[in-house]
Amino acid sequence: MSITPEIQQKIELLQEKYAAMGQDMASYLDGLLYADFLTYWDYIHLDTLLSLQSPKTPFPDEQIFIMYHQITELYFKLALHECSQISKNQSLTSDFFAARLKRINSYFQALTNSFEIMVDGMEKEQFLKFRMSLLPASGFQSGQYRMIEIYSTDFINLVAKDKREELQSASVEEQFEYIYWKFGATELASGKQTLTLKQFEKKYASEFIELAKNAQFSNFRALFNKFKAEGSATDEIEKELKLLDTLVNVNWPLAHYKSAVRYLNRQPEEIKATGGTNWQKYLPPRFQKRIFYPELWNDEEHENWGKNWVLSVLNTPSI
Ligand code: HEM
Repeated sequence: MSITPEIQQKIELLQEKYAAMGQDMASYLDGLLYADFLTYWDYIHLDTLLSLQSPKTPFPDEQIFIMYHQITELYFKLALHECSQISKNQSLTSDFFAARLKRINSYFQALTNSFEIMVDGMEKEQFLKFRMSLLPASGFQSGQYRMIEIYSTDFINLVAKDKREELQSASVEEQFEYIYWKFGATELASGKQTLTLKQFEKKYASEFIELAKNAQFSNFRALFNKFKAEGSATDEIEKELKLLDTLVNVNWPLAHYKSAVRYLNRQPEEIKATGGTNWQKYLPPRFQKRIFYPELWNDEEHENWGKNWVLSVLNTPSI
C-alpha cells in the first residue's frame, strides 16, 4: 500500500505531537504494532462489573435487590456527573444549563419508571428474610442521593421544614444540625438515632458540609437566581427545574415509598416491637415538604405537595 498524501499528513501531525513532548514517534508506532485490539468487555470492565454482586444469604431474590441498588447508584452517578458540569462551568449559558438539567431529569424519570422492579419484582417472604441479614445497612445511607440534593438547591431547603425559617441565615454547619434526614432512621420505640444514621453521618458529614459550602453560589437555585437577576433566565430552565423538583422530591420518593409499603407495612405498634424505624411517618413527601424551588410553586401547590397531581400540571402548555 502506498503512502497517500492524507496518511503522510497524519504522520507529520503525529510527529509534531510527539516532538512537542520530547517523545520519539517511532517508539510509539512500535507500541501500536504490538498493542491488542480493544474489546467491549475490557473497555467497560464487564467482568468486574458482573462480579460485584455478593449476596449475604442463599435467597435468589437478594440478587435482584443488590443489582437494582447498583443500577440506581450508577444513575445517581450519571446525575452527579451533570451536576458538577453545571456547577463548575465558569461561562454557563442558559442553553447549557437547560440541556444538562434535562439529562438529570431523564435519569430520574427512568429511575421512577423502573421502581416497579422493586415493588413487584421480589417474593415478599424471601425479602423479609434476607433483609434481616443486611441490618443495619439501608438505602438511607446513599451518599450520592444526598449530594444530588445539595447541588440542586440552597442548603436551607434541605433543613427540616419547621426549622427552615429560623435558620435562614445560619451557617452551613448550624443548618446541618437540623438537616431533614436526621429525623428519619430513628427508632420508633425510643426516638433515638439508629446505628444506620450514625454510621451514615460518620462517613459523609464532612463531605456534605464541604460540598454545601462549595455549592453556595453554584447550586441550581443560586444559578437560576443569578440568571434571573441578569435577565437571562428562560422558560426552559424554569420548566426543567420544576420537573427536577417533582421527580426528586415527589415522584421518586413515592415510587420508593410504594415498595416500603409493599414489603414492610405493619401497624406502628408491631414495628416498635421488632425494633423498626419511623419510616411510615418519615418517607411520605407530603410530611416533609422537601422543595428545591419554593418560589416556583403557588400556595395551593405547596399545600398539596406530595400528591400525584404535580406531573400532570407540568404537562400543561402554560408552563
Ligand atoms: C424493596 C425495596 C426497598 C425497601 C423496602 C426500602 C425501604 C426503605 C426504608 C424503610 C427507608 C427508611 C429508612 C430506614 O428505615 O432504613 C428507606 C430509605 C431510603 N431508601 Fe429504601 N427501600 C427499598 C429500595 C431502595 C432502593 C432500590 C434505593 C436506591 C438506592 C433506596 C434508597 C433509599 C434512600 C435514598 C432512602 C432515604 C430516603 C429519605 O431520606 O427520604 N431504597 N428505604
